[in-house]
Amino acid sequence: MSSTVENKVTVVTGASSGFGAATARLFAAEGAKTVLAARRIQRLEALAEEIRSAGGEALPIACDVTVQEQIDTLVKATLDAYGRIDILVNNAGIGRLNWLDELSPDDISREVDVDLKGAILMARAVLPSMLAQRSGHIINMVSVVGWVAPPLATVYSATKFGLRGFTEGLRREVAPFGIHVSAIYPAGARTEFSQNVGGELAARILNSRWVNSLTADDVAKAVLRVAKHPRKRSVILPWWYGILLWFNSHFPGVSDLVQAQLVRRYRKDVPSGHGDDEG
Ligand SMILES: NC(=O)c1ccc[n+]([C@@H]2O[C@H](COP(=O)([O-])OP(=O)(O)OC[C@H]3O[C@@H](n4cnc5c(N)ncnc54)[C@H](OP(=O)(O)O)[C@@H]3O)[C@@H](O)[C@H]2O)c1
Repeated sequence: MSSTVENKVTVVTGASSGFGAATARLFAAEGAKTVLAARRIQRLEALAEEIRSAGGEALPIACDVTVQEQIDTLVKATLDAYGRIDILVNNAGIGRLNWLDELSPDDISREVDVDLKGAILMARAVLPSMLAQRSGHIINMVSVVGWVAPPLATVYSATKFGLRGFTEGLRREVAPFGIHVSAIYPAGARTEFSQNVGGELAARILNSRWVNSLTADDVAKAVLRVAKHPRKRSVILPWWYGILLWFNSHFPGVSDLVQAQLVRRYRKDVPSGHGDDEG
């Protein structure tokens, strides 16, 4: 069953750049009433202006998804303006990508607070209006690292594995009330994400063409596709990453060996020696 996003009140978190901005533009072009949320309000205002001058509807609201009062303000302002929330694109996220022993406790807390807890708090905040409507759609921006955890992304992957589990549980919890929950699993994409990972090696890997094969528009189109087919549980992008994920789940030992080789090649600050796997 295909539907439309026309006139659907759509809250997009992380709308100030990357996937979120591209998604908001695309949804607005399809007639959605887009609520733009992120911390950088000037960027949101500029995007709202751009959407309005193209004939679309946009409401920019500053919101840090780690701060409950700001989430409450976002939801209240949306309900005051439009009276309902049809779609939440739960997209805000950061990546602190480094060897675990080089991540600070603050980096770790921030990662969990934004990528996992923030997404959970956002979903929780929109649920009362969706339950009252007996309709709605929550689309969580996960990542392929929610299926396969690579080195340098231990904590980031932990949050995305968590978000995948949350997506699955919530889908089952709210399905009886006409609310859909879906997930998007993109591989690397060219956005500001790679500029903010906090580690030079991770940034270099993320910027390589093999890892970084998507654009924000590719991801936005996938979000729109899922919004139009709300029964769709998930999308993996690009599609052929599905083969890698299948391989990893069926041959995890081979994946372990390949990834360990890469770590040996790149991690030069630890004295070489014999790990258990080297006999
Ligand atoms: N790019 C990739 O390779 C990739 C791949 C798979 C999945 N993802 C996921 O896709 C999502 C979007 O990433 P992107 O590539 O579009 O990155 P991006 O360009 O860096 O955008 C991240 C967005 O999240 C917002 N954000 C960060 N912290 C926030 C907070 N505390 N409260 C509210 N908003 C916050 C940022 O806005 P402000 O700074 O203005 O708050 C920004 O709009 C993330 O969840 C990421 O994990 C990315």
